[in-house]
Amino acid sequence: MASQFDERHMIMATTGQTRVTLNNGLAIPALGFGVFQTTPEDTVAAVTVAIGDGYRLIDTAASYGNEREVGEGIRSSGVDRDQIFVESKLWISDYADGKAEVGFDASLRRLGVDYVDVYLLHQPTPADFDDTIAAYRLLERKLADGEVRAIGVSNFSPDHLTRLLDKVDVVPAVNQVELHPYFTNATVQHADATLGILTQAWSPIGGIHRYRPTDAPGGGNVLENPVITGLAAKYGKTPAQVVLRWHLDQGRSALPKSVTPSRITENVDVFDFTLLPEELAAIDALDTGLRGGPDPELLNTRSFPKAVDNS
Ligand SMILES: NC(=O)c1ccc[n+]([C@@H]2O[C@H](COP(=O)([O-])OP(=O)(O)OC[C@H]3O[C@@H](n4cnc5c(N)ncnc54)[C@H](OP(=O)(O)O)[C@@H]3O)[C@@H](O)[C@H]2O)c1
Repeated sequence: MASQFDERHMIMATTGQTRVTLNNGLAIPALGFGVFQTTPEDTVAAVTVAIGDGYRLIDTAASYGNEREVGEGIRSSGVDRDQIFVESKLWISDYADGKAEVGFDASLRRLGVDYVDVYLLHQPTPADFDDTIAAYRLLERKLADGEVRAIGVSNFSPDHLTRLLDKVDVVPAVNQVELHPYFTNATVQHADATLGILTQAWSPIGGIHRYRPTDAPGGGNVLENPVITGLAAKYGKTPAQVVLRWHLDQGRSALPKSVTPSRITENVDVFDFTLLPEELAAIDALDTGLRGGPDPELLNTRSFPKAVDNS
């Protein structure tokens, strides 16, 4: 990515975990563990296994319905809270009417923590952007009072970032977006890099195309793509490990999700190889320009009527 990114983000290896330093100085693990669609019944075990395998960043959200179990998994792991980075997100039903603080407090309560390491706006609401601004203002206040260590956004386009930065004081530390070899989201990566925002990849190994299949070109399983399987054979690694290495080698954060213990272990075993520049470029070239998830421009409380229950 742009050299500005390299200048503004120091990458360092610590105990096998590459960390990336955010624009406010907080160093977080580049590789995290995702729990979207992990049922509450599966979450405690998945998080406990993940922490046992060495993951130190867990990505959840109020809308995932499993924050309680994420907190329980962290507590049952035996690893101290201050060694774990907890990332969560405010859902859009809590943006307007002063509800953001209620939503934030409910996340803390469900997680059973007194601070969150990284806290994001889950989505922009482009047609009701004043609500997005109001919610982000709450994040700024939580950052100032120490209940959050870094704040950011998710699913923001370059235009959404411009509109946000026009009205707020703190540049987001993170922008979490759909990003895998079939959708490299290059314009967002470029905007993030220019602004000093860490791009964090959701569906990093292309999961969206497996749980939301499409007939559109590029809608297949990226883990079966010959470029990826060829590199996996070359390095004696699995296709998922090659794709995760592609993220890390380009300075991104990636959040693979799994409820399968062997895959949880596999996905964190990516710190013993790197890809060559031409191999990174070959994976970049798989981009179809087509996202598998929803278009962020169309997100709002009408198109996504789900509301988080904060009672
Ligand atoms: N901000 C947002 O709007 C947003 C949206 C989506 C996701 N996310 C975040 O990103 C995380 C990951 O995204 P994701 O769940 O969409 O996709 P993903 O991590 O790319 O893929 C997950 C899927 O791949 C399977 N899998 C995991 N490891 C594998 C391996 N080594 N080999 C083959 N298959 C493997 C999983 O199956 P099993 O679980 O059955 O093993 C699951 O079906 C989420 O959990 C969440 O934290 C954020």
